Amino acid sequence: MAVQRNENKMNTVQTISAPLYEALKAHAEQGRASFHTPGHKGNCAFLPLDRQYDLTELPDTDSLFEASGCIRESERKAARLFGAAYTAVSSGGCTLAIQGMLAAFAGTGSKVIFCRNIHRSAVNTAALLGIAPVWVSHRCDGGEGLPGRVCAEDIRRAIEKNPDAAAVYLTSPDYYGCLSDIKGIAEICSFYEKPLLVDNAHGTHLISFGMHPITLGAAASACSAHKTLPVLTGGAWLNCNDEAIGSKIKSSMALFGSTSPSYLTMASLDLARDWMEREGIAAFRELAGIVSGLREVAASVGFGLPQGECDPVRLTLLTRPMGMTGDEAAEYFRRKGVECEHSDGGAVVFILTPFNSETDIDRLRHTIGAFPKGRPITYEPIVPDELPMIIKSPREALLSRSENIPVPEAAGRIAAEAACPCPPGVPVVMPGELIDKKCVNILLKTGITRINVIE
Ligand SMILES: Cc1ncc(COP(=O)(O)O)c(C=O)c1O
Repeated sequence: MAVQRNENKMNTVQTISAPLYEALKAHAEQGRASFHTPGHKGNCAFLPLDRQYDLTELPDTDSLFEASGCIRESERKAARLFGAAYTAVSSGGCTLAIQGMLAAFAGTGSKVIFCRNIHRSAVNTAALLGIAPVWVSHRCDGGEGLPGRVCAEDIRRAIEKNPDAAAVYLTSPDYYGCLSDIKGIAEICSFYEKPLLVDNAHGTHLISFGMHPITLGAAASACSAHKTLPVLTGGAWLNCNDEAIGSKIKSSMALFGSTSPSYLTMASLDLARDWMEREGIAAFRELAGIVSGLREVAASVGFGLPQGECDPVRLTLLTRPMGMTGDEAAEYFRRKGVECEHSDGGAVVFILTPFNSETDIDRLRHTIGAFPKGRPITYEPIVPDELPMIIKSPREALLSRSENIPVPEAAGRIAAEAACPCPPGVPVVMPGELIDKKCVNILLKTGITRINVIE
């Protein structure tokens, strides 16, 4: 596609070739309803998209990692919204907040108790920092094919077995919206004096429902604001319940972050916080009623839904009862003009925010209600009876020379990457773990045919 642009100075018409820009334009022209990130949905009048605000560190614009002016003031206001003792902004996504959190609380050479479905940003950080993981498995209590939740008693046992662990680190909510018992786990962590760190990437908006991890007793949380709030991509907050440690986390974030944070993204965080205080909390509560109605429509036509406590505004449909994999269902939704956030072998996930228009929501409701029902696909749960043996640290494994080999040849080798079938969205092996025959069978059964192993 040729795009024409007037160059003011040269007064000539040039043809530009910009494949990424052209793909974005072509996508936007299709006009699909956006049920994916970012939370502003391209439909938010108050965002400062104007390039005149794409600025840098100047005497009157402060500096992220040495903030003492307007950025620090914006962080203080965000801390008041979350009820945190300290909040730091990130334009490097939640990943930067996770890196800072682990570096400040755990650091090189320490041991951390992790739930098994942590995002790769945490696996990579453990590798970069040389953290030794202790894994806690999920209970399959989320619904067919979902990872489920970690149970507070399993965390207690892990702490008792590993009294030298520097921290406990969990993901909640997960991608499908399932919430772990953060309050119960925080109480256990507090009893054993272990900081509870929560990857709350998908749950910044949970402050509207009194379900934010900081409200429930976590020591710190990393919140990917751009996923569910009207924030530009990359905008995230780190929240901490201790001012001095929060400030240490911010210094640790500087180890990993760019020295050129996006002012547009940081300003969008500031504006989103202001919107949350004025209207957002009420808007998310209203949205919860809409999502509850969508779930009723979905259940009435035969979709499965996650079980137990969930994010009130995350819509996850289990598609096998309808005779389709999640990926096939996502394609069907796409043909009907509905773009989801995620799909896999058994589920399709929609991110709704107050910035979805009524037309978007009507389209989604209608497509769910008219969804064709086929013969249900049966699901055989994959629950490994025990976790693979750890042979090397994630650091040694991820930074070693590796080769990509067929899974049937991988028995007896050490994984150089996480291999994660979806469902259930929990890695079968993590980097550094021994791939035994049971792992090989599970990987093949779930369609994973090649894997990176240490040479
Ligand atoms: C559970 C979870 N944690 C962390 C991240 C990383 O967040 P970001 O993309 O904002 O760096 C993601 C991104 O998808 C995620 O799903």
